[in-house]
Parts: sequence; C-alpha cells; structure tokens
Amino acid sequence: MQNSGSEQMQGKKLTPSAIAGYLDQYVVGQDEAKKVLSVAVYSHYRKQGRQRLGDVEVAKSNILLIGPTGTGKTLLCETLSRVARVPFVTANATSLAQSKYVNEEIEALLLRLLEKAGGDVAKAQRGIVFIDEIDKLKASEGEQRGTSGERVQHALLKIMEGAPVRLGSAQTIDTTNILFICAGAFVGLEDITAASHAFGFISVDKHDDQQILDRLNSRVKPTDLFKFGLIPEFAGRLPIIANLQNLSKELLVKIMVEPRNSIYNQFREAFREEGVELHIELAAFQQIAEMAFEYKVGARSLRGIFEEMLTPVMFLVPDHPEIRRVVIKSLFEEPSLITLS
Ligand SMILES: Nc1ncnc2c1ncn2[C@@H]1O[C@H](COP(=O)(O)OP(=O)(O)O)[C@@H](O)[C@H]1O
Ligand SMILES: [Mg+2]
Repeated sequence: MQNSGSEQMQGKKLTPSAIAGYLDQYVVGQDEAKKVLSVAVYSHYRKQGRQRLGDVEVAKSNILLIGPTGTGKTLLCETLSRVARVPFVTANATSLAQSKYVNEEIEALLLRLLEKAGGDVAKAQRGIVFIDEIDKLKASEGEQRGTSGERVQHALLKIMEGAPVRLGSAQTIDTTNILFICAGAFVGLEDITAASHAFGFISVDKHDDQQILDRLNSRVKPTDLFKFGLIPEFAGRLPIIANLQNLSKELLVKIMVEPRNSIYNQFREAFREEGVELHIELAAFQQIAEMAFEYKVGARSLRGIFEEMLTPVMFLVPDHPEIRRVVIKSLFEEPSLITLS
C-alpha cells in the first residue's frame, strides 16, 4: 500500500521545496511547473487566517498549466491533491461543456469541496479547485457566440472572481479565496505565441543570459489566450502560466522506471506475487521510449507498448511454477525464462 501524501508529509513543514520533493516522487521532469505549483500552494496555505497583510490585500494567483498531451498535467495535479493540506477537488471542462446544467454542475463541485472539508464552510472557502482540459472551452472561429464552451467560461469566471454560491442545503460558499488551477494542451497556441513575439526581447548586452531571454520571449500572453478562444476576462483571471515541456526519450525511460508507482515497479510486483523475478534491461526501455516518442502522445503510449512486450510471458508464467526469473534484453529478442535447475 502506498502512503497517502499527507500521511507521508505529516509533521513536516510544507515548504515549496518539500511540496516539489513530493511531486518528484511521482512526476518526472517538468521542473518549471512543479516550482510554480509548489510556490502557489505554499502561498495559499500561508494566507490562511490572514487575508490581509497589514493593509495589503493579498490577491490570489490562479494558475494555468499549458503543455502537450501526455506530459503530466493531470498527473501533477492529482499528485498535488494528495499533499495539499486544504480541500482539493477536480473538474473536467469537457464534461462541463457537455452539460446542460452548468451552474448545477458547479454547485455540485463546490458541494464536493465542502464534503472534503468535512462540512466546514470556512475550510472549503480556502480550498483548491482544479479544472482540467480548460482549452476545450475555446470558442472556435465561425461558431456563433454563446457556444457551450463560452457559457462555461462565463459560469467559471463568476466563481473565479469570487461570488457567494448558494448550495442546495441552504449553505453558502464564498469563492473569493479558493485557488483555481487550470490545465490544457492548447493545441495551436504555440503558433499564436510565436507570431505575437515577432518583436521579442533581443540581447543588447553580451552579458544578457540567452536562456532568460528565450524564456521571456516564449511567454504566453493573455492576448494569445484570447486569440486562442478564451474570453479576455477569463484569461485575465489566470495570471500565472506555467509550461510543461515535451518529454524527451531519456525522460520517457525514467518515467517507466523511476517513479514510486512506475510501470516497471508495478509489473515487478505482479511477477513477484507469482514467485518470479522480472528483470528488464535498459536497452528494452530505450526501444519502448523510441516508439512512444514517435507516437507524439507524451508518456501515454508507454503502458500499451510495455504490456504488449510482456503479454507472452504473462500468458506462460502461471502454468509454469518452475520459472523463477524472466529477463528481457530487447523488444526484438525472445525473453529468457530462467527455471529452477
Ligand atoms: N512527467 C511525467 N512523469 C511521470 N509520468 C508521466 C509524466 N507525464 C505523463 N505521465 C504518464 O502518462 C500518462 C498521461 O499523463 P497525464 O498527466 O494524464 O497527461 P496530460 O498532460 O495529458 O494531462 C499518465 O498515466 C502518467 O502516468
Ligand atoms: Mg490531462
């Protein structure tokens, strides 16, 4: 059994680096997004109980995660929800857009937040709401105004700006201090951003750090999101944007091997239960990563290729208790089955 995140972190001070360290155990790479998320969640805790710093109102900083499909957006937020010490709920924008009753769906979401808070309204009001696949709410060109996606944006905008929402049970939740994290692949946004940065910062001093310049130049601007199809007020409510990167072949290999619940660990465990030691060599993982990389769906295709490789052995092993060890060196070689001599 896996420890739940909060159990594992109990008693520890949840600094940004501690949160990022927890994320590292499950999510490979994506350091920028990890930093942004852990700083935001930390600041969100810190604000609890003191909504004002002296006379300075601490505005909340909702986050938008942008990155290609299968690079870990959903995984990052699921993992974050296990360490967050505030109530955390998830919604999917695609299903919100398909619903006829968006406001009811949003109420149900807040009700779940209240349940996670054990019925404590004050606690729920400082929770975190994660909305996945937010890019599916875009108003596409040629469509009439008031499409379902746009309607959902308006409905979400209301709670992101902060509004009292009446829940069925006559309870009211004020959403002003709820932190919103949104994520989406935003296919096509890169071209918009590239075009809008035609006149980017240009290094004028040889001491300028090219990496920093590149980063500033690739920043997604609210106007880019507007061109993509988010209404300006909605984009404006997501001031912090973090980018997830395409996963390299090296990172794809790491994903199969390193996380606590990696595919490799899961299958080793399943084989161990049959009394068999499973050993897969690096070259085989590299071949799988190579194939997955070509499919261009991030880490999504790893499991399928991996399982396909193991299926013949998984078919054999239960009938052969004498098999003690399975070694796979390459996708193009039969696995070695080592039996009790
Ligand atoms: N950076 C990563 N580290 C570890 N696993 C990952 C990573 N990115 C994707 N995966 C794996 O790929 C699958 C799809 O990832 P997901 O987070 O759903 O992608 P998306 O960015 O499209 O939301 C998940 O099952 C996850 O295990
Ligand atoms: Mg996702």
